[in-house]
Amino acid sequence: MYQLNIIADSHANIRALREKLLGILDVQFVSLPEALASPPGPATLLDIDLAKQTAFSEVRRWLGRKPANAKAMFLVDKASRLQEARACALGATDVLHRPINYRTLLTKLWGDVASLSGDPGNATLRKSPAVCAAIDTLQNIFSSACLGEQLDAQSINSAGNAVVSHLETQGLTAWIETVRTHHSATYQHCLLVTGLAVAFGQQIRISRADRQRLSFAGMLHDIGKARIPLAILEKPGRLTDDEMEVMKKHPQFGLDALQTAPGLPAEMLDMVVHHHEYLDGSGYPHGLTACEISDLVRMITIADIFGALIERRPYRPPMSGAAAYNILLEMGPKLDKDLVREFRPVADLGLRH
Ligand SMILES: [Fe+2]
Ligand SMILES: [Fe+2]
Repeated sequence: MYQLNIIADSHANIRALREKLLGILDVQFVSLPEALASPPGPATLLDIDLAKQTAFSEVRRWLGRKPANAKAMFLVDKASRLQEARACALGATDVLHRPINYRTLLTKLWGDVASLSGDPGNATLRKSPAVCAAIDTLQNIFSSACLGEQLDAQSINSAGNAVVSHLETQGLTAWIETVRTHHSATYQHCLLVTGLAVAFGQQIRISRADRQRLSFAGMLHDIGKARIPLAILEKPGRLTDDEMEVMKKHPQFGLDALQTAPGLPAEMLDMVVHHHEYLDGSGYPHGLTACEISDLVRMITIADIFGALIERRPYRPPMSGAAAYNILLEMGPKLDKDLVREFRPVADLGLRH
């Protein structure tokens, strides 16, 4: 019989699951320290507190030892993109939402994982090497940032290169479709911003080197959010002033994380730390004004705002490209007027989705 090991902080929540699975699977409950003592089996379900950062390194190292094709599924709270990101960073092959449904679990164990992505569609797009490279890089980088490890500048650069080539040959529409068909919502924001920023660079004919810099910033601009407490990052309501102050630290945290990767050019770091600055001085963290904000930073800020608006979120439908573009226009003196006008054709590509 197929063996499933369940590692859980508390077994109370999933005891009912075992009863449902009696006779179908051989379910073993194991504590985390017990599990870490021997290599992972072919199927593991982890129901651990991803808000706490204890034992993250051990779990990641342990899952790195799992046999090829072994499954490591994490239970996460629905709509918690950060928990999902952390699960991926630790080596999850899949995530399931609480409360767990035994049919979903069985389908995940035996079914075709790709077909569960909610997208029966275009397999060629989904397998795009550029998207895969970008997602792999993001997973590695977020995981290193969560764990305070050194980042790998080489893989950041090669993923950026792959993204720029993909957008040159396939265009933005295909990129957005690809990103949206990826089964995990976790990296959609970063990947959308990346595609928009690089397409924006193509639109205004900047050099390939600059488009690669934009691609880097798109992928990594929010990496500092790995250090913002979940309770703030995923609060469903409005943030209090104090919480907002904490949230506003993410660009600086991002810079801190990236400074561990030697050799990253200053203009790339500039985009990460300053992507929330506005020309009228009302942005953060440094309250820079127009003459202190470079063109590349102005571009990534526009792509970031637009990307966040057209993104699919579990609790609201995506805004149309037209409505999102209007918000950019309404932001007036905060954004570079000429660049917002140049962004129009890029936003038009977003209108179709
Ligand atoms: Fe941000
Ligand atoms: Fe962002």
